Amino acid sequence: MLVEVDSLSLYEVGAIAAAIVAAVIVSAKRMRSLRTRSACLPASLEGKVEAVFVAEAKIVDGAIFPLTLKPVVEDAQDPSAEHRLAFVRAHRDELLSLVRSRGAVLLRGWGPCSAEHFSEISTALNLAASEMSCSAGPRFEVAKNVFTANEAPPSERIPFHHEMAQCDNPPAVVMFFCELPAQVGGATPILQSFLAAEYLRKNHPAVAERLADKGVKYVRIMPPVTDPSSALGKSWRNSLRVETVEEAETSLRALGCTWTWLPNGMLHTVTKSMPALLLDERTGREIFFTAAETTFNSVEDEAIGATVEEKDEALIRPVKAIIYGDGSPLDKPTKEALFDVSEFMVRSQVSIPWQQGDALLLNNATVQHSRETFTPPRRILASLVGQLSKAGHTLHERDPELGIKACGIATVSPSSTMDGLPITHA
Ligand SMILES: [Fe+2]
Repeated sequence: MLVEVDSLSLYEVGAIAAAIVAAVIVSAKRMRSLRTRSACLPASLEGKVEAVFVAEAKIVDGAIFPLTLKPVVEDAQDPSAEHRLAFVRAHRDELLSLVRSRGAVLLRGWGPCSAEHFSEISTALNLAASEMSCSAGPRFEVAKNVFTANEAPPSERIPFHHEMAQCDNPPAVVMFFCELPAQVGGATPILQSFLAAEYLRKNHPAVAERLADKGVKYVRIMPPVTDPSSALGKSWRNSLRVETVEEAETSLRALGCTWTWLPNGMLHTVTKSMPALLLDERTGREIFFTAAETTFNSVEDEAIGATVEEKDEALIRPVKAIIYGDGSPLDKPTKEALFDVSEFMVRSQVSIPWQQGDALLLNNATVQHSRETFTPPRRILASLVGQLSKAGHTLHERDPELGIKACGIATVSPSSTMDGLPITHA
């Protein structure tokens, strides 16, 4: 209907304008509500956060991966670290439930934050801090339970891995915080791990069966003093949280490792057999639950360890490698298969450039991560909480209190997610 404005009184024009403004506000609220519901967020989060679609995100299993949440700000307030902390404290259960069901949740848009803020977020999740002694990379604690991310040299890409997959009880949730993004590179690519397991089973069934049957052993050669310039440079003292040789041996015995002391104070360790393929208890899916050693940069990479004692003393250097769980070295078909899987993982990854203040929460049972090369400076911090168990070749979490019903992500079709109104673009 067309209305001649000249024929309306000032009062009528004002009333129409007010009605239009009200309609826009209602529409915006309705859209936000629709987005919240169709992104499968709990109703309790409505008006607090909304899902946004980051250009680099992908649809995996019919849902946006990662789920990216930004603050809903009322009354022209600027979002801040305090708002995010209050949100996490008030909605801790919902947030953790989303991390579990969606695999990855990126909290973006609250502005720059400090290491202390990240520590408070970690604490607000109220999960036990992970025992870090099994972590292979060099890290430094900068706030309570907040560490520098693996300080491997910027020129080295860190391959895909589950955090501390070589340990008996890896963390349940891995949090990364961006204090300072790199000018070039430095993203933390992520991948739903079941995709890697599916690819391995489909394309290399014999190798998959062998890995499932035998498991793997992780081999390390550690220096006596940490060398932060090396991705492998974490000392045995630092790794095992001990000071003396006797304490180291006690710790290794408790872990079920075998060990050999090498010249120059180097320590060669071999873990007990660990499963490489595990069932995730929550989804029933097979997960390629491995540490970075499983990813080969080339088929020529050798699985050192079984023969290290024979090496020339001058050649002994820090090493991370794998062998089969029965102690035999990996054969060439296995290396070729793992190399192929690692290339598939890179092809299938989701890599979102960091923004200052980002917090990325990963379900370590189902999602692998890696790190791209970068030009310094860059400061990404990490906090590891909760505990997974691998008992019975099944991954389950040792925190029974998470009672929030998981979101039915399988009911969100890619088309409804991509073509409708549900997701805004960041
Ligand atoms: Fe990691």
